[in-house]
Amino acid sequence: MVMRLPIHDDAGLVIGAIGFALFDELHSLSPMLKRYMSMQEELASTRSLLRARQTKYNFAHFIGTSAASLEVKRRARRSASTDSPVLLLGETGTGKELLAQAIHNASPRAHKAFVSINSAAIPESLLEAEFFGTAPGAFTGADRKGRAGKLQIAQGGTLFLDEIGDMPLPLQSKLLRVLQEKEFEPVGSNDVIQSDVRVIAATSTDLEAAIKRGEFRADLYYRLNVLPIHVPPLRDRLDDLPALSEAILEELRSQHELNSEALALLGQHAWPGNIRELRNVLERAALLSDDLRLSAADIRAAIGTFTPVERVNPLAVEPVGHETFSAARERFDRQLIETALALCEGKVIEAAARLGMGRSTLYKKMAALGIAESP
Ligand SMILES: Nc1ncnc2c1ncn2[C@@H]1O[C@H](COP(=O)(O)OP(=O)(O)OP(=O)(O)O)[C@@H](O)[C@H]1O
Ligand SMILES: [Mg+2]
Repeated sequence: MVMRLPIHDDAGLVIGAIGFALFDELHSLSPMLKRYMSMQEELASTRSLLRARQTKYNFAHFIGTSAASLEVKRRARRSASTDSPVLLLGETGTGKELLAQAIHNASPRAHKAFVSINSAAIPESLLEAEFFGTAPGAFTGADRKGRAGKLQIAQGGTLFLDEIGDMPLPLQSKLLRVLQEKEFEPVGSNDVIQSDVRVIAATSTDLEAAIKRGEFRADLYYRLNVLPIHVPPLRDRLDDLPALSEAILEELRSQHELNSEALALLGQHAWPGNIRELRNVLERAALLSDDLRLSAADIRAAIGTFTPVERVNPLAVEPVGHETFSAARERFDRQLIETALALCEGKVIEAAARLGMGRSTLYKKMAALGIAESP
């Protein structure tokens, strides 16, 4: 019996082969075949695990050029080059997971695993084993052989601790040890394993309030809070709406566009579900409308419960007496005009109509305030 194994180069081309000639004792092949089959199975399952663990986001996916978004990106980019923990703070749907993946992919650990563990999604009783793994023989049944924990799988790479605010207190202490001593023990084992992971944590809960309630360890908070990044809610960066909507519609492979009233309406909703909600609304609107130009009515129908944004009264920002009447008036005028222009995509004629003033009056006001007409 003769067997040949091809040798491939990195590009998959066959560049040679190894040949085996097995003369007799065919039965001696059977253990080898068995081993080959089991390795084959192991390879397939490892491959599928790796695929599941693949990240899909980098910084280019984080859309937004508002000052708030640029600051988030700047901080996140800088954090990529260090090994210090990052703490992502922000409401649901603001892009924390996206940023965590982007940071990993821009870091020197990019070619290693990105492993996430969600404290809110796993029952408390299973969380520790999930985290640290189990030692062989420590359990009966499926875990008899021992199982690698997320911490081990993430070795050399990044561990993403999602919803860290929901982590039970006993596990918080153990995590603190990992961060400080860089070591841990699998459940049921006395072996100490050295850990080499970069931790990125995220939460939508107020950790300082959780500390006051005794639900979160202050020392862990300080250890994690080295590079905090506040991801602002969508209502605080409404300037990003046009670009975000366009990117989302493109990603949905939709031919739809938003007309200017539709865009203006987007800017009047408070988006409690943030960008995830925006995505759902646009997807629904595009599904329901045959007209490729989505109108305000289409958007209104797609938004479940409309929550109007509370516009900050510009006059209320400065306490009375801290600025003169004319300075306050100027600030008010500027804000009003800039908002109207933004809602009308910079079209002065439309903005004037919206404000109920003549076009030339608006031009004069803009000139006086130094507001440039967008090209
Ligand atoms: N700046 C952005 N640009 C484009 N898409 C974004 C942006 N931020 C978030 N998204 C999209 O919004 C959705 C929600 O993002 P993500 O899952 O990262 O939010 P999250 O903060 O982790 O939310 P949660 O707290 O609910 O887990 C995803 O589909 C993501 O692609
Ligand atoms: Mg998330």
